[in-house]
Amino acid sequence: MAEPNPLREPLLDWYGTHARDLPWRRPDTTPWGVLVSEIMLQQTPVARVLPIWAAWLARWPTPAALAAEPPGEAVRAWGRLGYPRRALNLHACARAIAEEHGGEVPSDHAVLRSLPGIGEYTAAAVASFAFGGRHAVLDTNVRRVLARAMRGEEYPPKATTAAERTLAEGLLPVLDAPTWGVAVMELGALVCTARAPRCVDCPITAHCRWRLAGRPPHDGPARKGQTYEGTDRQCRGRLLAVLRQAHGAVPKSALDVVWPEPIQRERALDGLVADGLAEVLSDGTYRLPTS
Ligand code: ADE
Repeated sequence: MAEPNPLREPLLDWYGTHARDLPWRRPDTTPWGVLVSEIMLQQTPVARVLPIWAAWLARWPTPAALAAEPPGEAVRAWGRLGYPRRALNLHACARAIAEEHGGEVPSDHAVLRSLPGIGEYTAAAVASFAFGGRHAVLDTNVRRVLARAMRGEEYPPKATTAAERTLAEGLLPVLDAPTWGVAVMELGALVCTARAPRCVDCPITAHCRWRLAGRPPHDGPARKGQTYEGTDRQCRGRLLAVLRQAHGAVPKSALDVVWPEPIQRERALDGLVADGLAEVLSDGTYRLPTS
C-alpha cells in the first residue's frame, strides 16, 4: 500500500475554491483544445494565451482543419506568443494526427510522445487532462511546489531528473490524478510562485519542508532571468512580425528597416529561414512558409 499523501485533501479543497476558470479546463473542451493550450502555455503566460487560443480553436476546431492550411498560416495566427517554432510544430503535429491517426488526438502517452513537437511534458499533460490518464505532469510550477514541499529546496534542478519523476509518480492518487496534477500546477502559479511565495495563503504550509526549515535560500549559481531587449530573439520577432502582417512576399528592404544592426539582422533572418519560419524566393523576397 502506498503511503497516504497528506497534501492531497488540503490541496484539492483549496483548488475547489481558488482555481481560475480557464477555458481549456472546462469539461466540454476537446482533446485538440487541450493539446493546443499546453503547447501555447509552455513558455507564455495565461493572459497572453487566452485570446490566441480562442481564435485558434474558432478557426481550426480540429487537427484536420489546421492540417489543410499551409504552415505559414499557423505562424501568422501565433501572433506575438513568442517561440514561434511551436506554431510550426503544432502544424506538423496536426498533419500527423490527420494523416496517421484518423484525425483524432491519440489518448495514449507513448503514441502522443511520438508525434512531432510533443515532448514528455505535453504527452503527459494531454494524456492526463484530456483523457483522464494517470501521469505525472511536471511543468515548472509543479516542479517548484514539489521541490519546496517535499524536498525542502527553494527551486528544482534546472532540468527534470529521474528522482523528481519518481517522487511525483509516488504522489499520484489512484482516483482522479488529473485534478491532483492541475491543483499542484495552480498552487505553483498562484501562491507558491518563484520569486514571492505567499506561504500565509498556502493550504499545505503545515506540511511544507521548505517553509518548516525557515525558507532557506537556494544555494548555487544565481538563476538568471531571461533578457529580451537587444537579443537575436527580439530581432527575429520584429522580422517575423513584418512577414505576418504582409499578404504575400515582401522585399528585403521592408525587413531591413525594423532592425538597425545589420550583422545581427542578417543572422536572425538566416535563422528564420533555417528554422522553416520564413522562405526566401528566387527574386530575393521573403514570405511565411507555404509548404
Ligand atoms: N491548466 C491545464 N494546464 C495548464 C497549464 N499548462 N497552465 C495553466 N493552466 C493549465
